[in-house]
Amino acid sequence: MIFDTHSIFSIPISIKHSVLNINNELINLSKSFESDTLNNEYNKFSKNYYVLNDVRLNYVKNVIETSLKEYEKEVMSLKDCQLKITNSWFSITESGGSHPTHNHPNSIISGCLYLKLPKNHNTINFHHTPQIYKGNITIEPLNYNQFNSDSYTMSVLEGDIIFFPSWLNHSVNYFDSNEERIVLGFNTFIDGNLGNDTWPTKLSLKVKT
Ligand SMILES: [Fe+2]
Repeated sequence: MIFDTHSIFSIPISIKHSVLNINNELINLSKSFESDTLNNEYNKFSKNYYVLNDVRLNYVKNVIETSLKEYEKEVMSLKDCQLKITNSWFSITESGGSHPTHNHPNSIISGCLYLKLPKNHNTINFHHTPQIYKGNITIEPLNYNQFNSDSYTMSVLEGDIIFFPSWLNHSVNYFDSNEERIVLGFNTFIDGNLGNDTWPTKLSLKVKT
């Protein structure tokens, strides 16, 4: 290497492995929620967008909240506020489905808890214009690296949880397994005090869940 190149202002994608042992009871429960394709052919979503408020999922909510606390501390280093889970839903993808590129509005950090991942369908793709170009420029590099790539694919396992900034575009590849892929997705928002009185930035928020 000729240069000592620093990656600054990075986007954190954080995976914690094996936060939960996935059993048949949880899989069956996830499938018992009424779901709908929302007029697309890609996925089925639970009609309930607050599934973690279901008492049968209390232990799952506890696991996610524990991981969120760790993320707040280790990655965000939040001082006078915290992340609260807002929306939560099951996403079930069957053969022929996919997750087209999207992001999650009205949320700070989003996450997925992976309940069922058929073989060869255990990845998630993230998309972002390389910081080096910033604007609407596409250049084919000789070799892709962390500075010039506009997409990045990460592997996950059943029982893993992943956190990422909600504004970040992401997608899941076309799905052709005979088994379904089941994910519990969730959004969060900041609860507590943002900013300070040194500048006119102070904002106190209470998130109702
Ligand atoms: Fe998503």
